[in-house]
Amino acid sequence: MLVTRPASDAAGHAAAASVASAVAAAVVPPDAVPAGSPWPAGALRTDQDVLVGGVGLSRLAARYATPLYVLDEAEVRSRCRAYRRALPGADVVYAAKAFLCGAMAEWVEQEGLGLDVCSGGELEHAVTCGFPAGRIVMHGNAKSPEELAAAVRLGVGRIVVDSFSEIARLAVLASPERPQDVLVRVVPGVSAGHHAAVRTGVEEQKFGFSIAAGDAADAVERVLNQPRLRLAGLHCHLGSQIAEVGPYLDTLDRVVPLLAAIRDRHGIALPELDLGGGHAVPYRAGESALDLAEFAERVNARLAELCARHRLAVPRLAVEPGRAVVGPAGVAVYRVLAVKHTMGGRTFVAVDGGMSDNPRPALYDARYTATLVGRAVAADAPLTDACVVGRHCEAGDVLVPEVRLPADIRAGDLVAVPVAGAYHLSMASGYNLVGRPPLVAVRDGASRMLLRRETLDDFRRRDIGR
Ligand code: LLP
Repeated sequence: MLVTRPASDAAGHAAAASVASAVAAAVVPPDAVPAGSPWPAGALRTDQDVLVGGVGLSRLAARYATPLYVLDEAEVRSRCRAYRRALPGADVVYAAKAFLCGAMAEWVEQEGLGLDVCSGGELEHAVTCGFPAGRIVMHGNAKSPEELAAAVRLGVGRIVVDSFSEIARLAVLASPERPQDVLVRVVPGVSAGHHAAVRTGVEEQKFGFSIAAGDAADAVERVLNQPRLRLAGLHCHLGSQIAEVGPYLDTLDRVVPLLAAIRDRHGIALPELDLGGGHAVPYRAGESALDLAEFAERVNARLAELCARHRLAVPRLAVEPGRAVVGPAGVAVYRVLAVKHTMGGRTFVAVDGGMSDNPRPALYDARYTATLVGRAVAADAPLTDACVVGRHCEAGDVLVPEVRLPADIRAGDLVAVPVAGAYHLSMASGYNLVGRPPLVAVRDGASRMLLRRETLDDFRRRDIGR
């Protein structure tokens, strides 16, 4: 939860007279906090700022300008550690699609996680940044021949095969001396995830081989028939923002019998089972996260029970969290450019970013919270129901449709949006040539830039026609 503490206690922040806990209460209602806070664990609210990694967001905004993304290194690292502690016998593989840059790859590597990549770009960038290829898992429903060749050449640890044509292609690319380890991605027929666009455990979508249709068994057989491929195990990924353990247990109920069928038919016990990612985090106070301890306990227990029933050796588990590692470590900071009060009583707070840095509300109807930072607000100051909108040229460019903000919010104010670490910058676009925001890392009261702001020069450099 967002801890309230006197500003004078906080490193790097100007001393302030008193704690305005009522202000904190106003923007982060205490009664809404218990099930989970969207703020990094070490975040502190002072009377006029929120400190992340010991640095005030308004100080960062003044130094780096807005819109600005802030990433709390300690939060990323502690989330990596929490995964490794909760699942000591499993491989924890960070899903780079949530967010990747050199520093992120380095932190994840140092914390002992693997890396899930889903494009040649993510792969080459990670390896160039020094991430060991052997700890990389390569995904994709439509990998190009060039991407497959790069994966083989670089020595990627696992390639998750996702189509029959890919199996044939990979079998030619891999070398006879060094067979490529692969996982077969299966569709268990389990529905889970925050939006239809991210539900991949169900039939009739583009990922994986259906267990029910027999495609998964066919794919396994084809891989086993390729001497240059070594089948290490099965993979499945259900979807994203899954707060319950149940769907993962249902998945085991369908996947372990397939492992047994493979053993019966081919006489081999596959040593690995990758359950993908999808672990939920709270975006607003009170929302639930996937309980990692419960996940570990119940998944391990069900796996052991099913394997015993089918007289199978228990395969080594892998999980691929993306959002749950980096999402809550990020905060977006925007400057308010305009405030409008409508006849219907609504307050639109327009900021200097929007759907080009966070397309999630427009794409998935994702809901966030927001808080005013950078100036003190009296404890009894009136609040208003505000709608935080972006600066892009469409009415659907809404960042936070409903949030309580001080009624006197005005141009020049700063607004911070937590849980901005996953699927914001990695999905950011060049819409309206606004330019993607910079990212700074914060740690122990200091900040450093990880990604610089995208400028008009960047756009001009690509514009080589005429
Ligand atoms: N493994 C595989 C094979 C995946 O496809 C994904 C996400 C993950 C792991 C990591 O999932 P996570 O733990 O981050 O939920 N843009 C959407 C999410 C798309 C997820 C795609 N695959 C969003 O912003 O909600």
